[in-house]
Amino acid sequence: MNTKEETNKTITEALSDWIRGVFSEQFGADIDLSGVGVVQAANPQFGDYQCNAAMSLAKVLKRPPRAVSEQVVANAPSHPAVDRLEIAGPGFINIYLSDAWLLQTVSAIDQDSQLGVPRSGAGHTVVVDYSSPNVAKPMHIGHIRSTIIGNSIDRLHRLLGYNVIADNHIGDWGTQFGIIMMGYRHFLDKDALARRPVEELERVYVKSYEKSREDENWLTQCREELVKLQSGDPENTALWREFIGLSLSEFDRIYKRLGVSFDLVRGESFYNDKLADTVALLEEKGMAEESEGATVVFLEEEKLPVCIVKKSDGGFNYATTDIATVASRVEEFRPDKIVYVTDERQQLHFKQFFTICRKLGCETELNHVWFGLMRLPEATFSTRQGNVIKLEALLDEAEQRAFDIVSASSPEMSEDDQREVARAVGIGAVKYADLSQNPQTTVTFTWDKALALDGNSGPYLQYAYARIASVHDKYTERFPDGNLDAFDIVLTEPIERELALKLIRFPDVVKRAASGYKPSTIADYLYELAQCYSSFYQNVPFLKAEEGIRESRVKLCGITAQVLRGGLQLLGIETPARI
Ligand code: ARG
Repeated sequence: MNTKEETNKTITEALSDWIRGVFSEQFGADIDLSGVGVVQAANPQFGDYQCNAAMSLAKVLKRPPRAVSEQVVANAPSHPAVDRLEIAGPGFINIYLSDAWLLQTVSAIDQDSQLGVPRSGAGHTVVVDYSSPNVAKPMHIGHIRSTIIGNSIDRLHRLLGYNVIADNHIGDWGTQFGIIMMGYRHFLDKDALARRPVEELERVYVKSYEKSREDENWLTQCREELVKLQSGDPENTALWREFIGLSLSEFDRIYKRLGVSFDLVRGESFYNDKLADTVALLEEKGMAEESEGATVVFLEEEKLPVCIVKKSDGGFNYATTDIATVASRVEEFRPDKIVYVTDERQQLHFKQFFTICRKLGCETELNHVWFGLMRLPEATFSTRQGNVIKLEALLDEAEQRAFDIVSASSPEMSEDDQREVARAVGIGAVKYADLSQNPQTTVTFTWDKALALDGNSGPYLQYAYARIASVHDKYTERFPDGNLDAFDIVLTEPIERELALKLIRFPDVVKRAASGYKPSTIADYLYELAQCYSSFYQNVPFLKAEEGIRESRVKLCGITAQVLRGGLQLLGIETPARI
């Protein structure tokens, strides 16, 4: 694996390409070999990796699977990573990695800021559209999940070398502004606005919205205010700008706490002057037609409901803005893909406008990453508070609870340090509770689980990191003249080999998490890594081992710490040196 091209591959990819090459040489290039590859062995008894392709190809090749595998094994050229191949059962090919290669690969992680992860996305651009809350409307838990999940997807792609454009597509345009303007003019509590601006805007919005549902006249007035804004009325425009400013400054406070930043914060309004042309183009292409005064796109062939792109009152829709946004992003950034992160309720919207974009000739890959609900411990919050405030209360409570843990476990730390560690632990706990779940399920957040020091939680992994990192300090304390650089890593015990194998899997895990848009893949891996490390630590002597073995083990610890830290970084979770 020395050529430049090879280093751009993960171990699974390199072995898959290699074995596929053997299949193709032996059985002809004209059969479909795209499914031929290797996977991590389910059980160490079956080697380190395995290839199960003989079973699925036996039929096409009209040969028993075992005979297929025998031919592959007999003709496989040597590969630097492979020690030997064995055939098992009906025709599984078990792959045993060479210890020399394993040592070299695991040792290389130490000096590598990429931790072995190839920059295979270099030269490719991806736009990640996430968070995207609405101005002056409640920021709900869906936006929070979008922020946390989207940010992790953003980090995963950056590590893979992609040019990432994180775009916060703020909802700063739409019918809510008529409602909020009426609410602002009639129900505003000025003191409340000064104290808690977005909470007050949310309050007047909700009040005006409720009134608009009962009072036809009120609804008409809301519409009139909206039309005034749309036609550039100076007073309403100024008010609109004020709402945006107030909302953004509150959102920013949360982003700062969560360690999230964007490359672009472009509201929907940025695309306003492109909407009429978008509809005109759809009409020109014969895709849009008039229906009951509105302009619509029929998607019958795709078995999707009709999509309205222009309302009968002349206003444009959410879908229209999204179609225009895709065109604008494609023109400006030439992205390979655009990824959207929202809650599950928007699935139909994305299916509809993706279909329309494709029909318009858009070749950029468009992906909607959706997630289910997260149930928060409601009882903790007064229901009169807005959602932004609720989130802040959730983060405050997380930090406070983490502080109780940290001050008990590290009483010798100064209170300032304890607070700083508690901040990282509290925020980490909330993020991990979200990211460790399969996004497409309903997640129930509980404090016990989020903060458990002995389960699959953020604090558990942060604590594991701090403990692992401290091994090095203990070593220098005991052996002030010790020189780790003078020793190579050696793998003497099976558990050490197991740990090394886990460590070199990191690049594959990162790729899988990124391509499947599943940060939980990283979380699962980190938890396994921490557990594997802990049986390593419990079962073999470290500082008491003989010279050479001792240094090797301390080095392996250091690499484990780096991978844990790198993995947590992908989840946006900090790793304090001590907890
Ligand atoms: N502002 C929208 C909402 O809160 C989410 C926007 C998602 N991004 C997009 N391009 N549609 O529901």
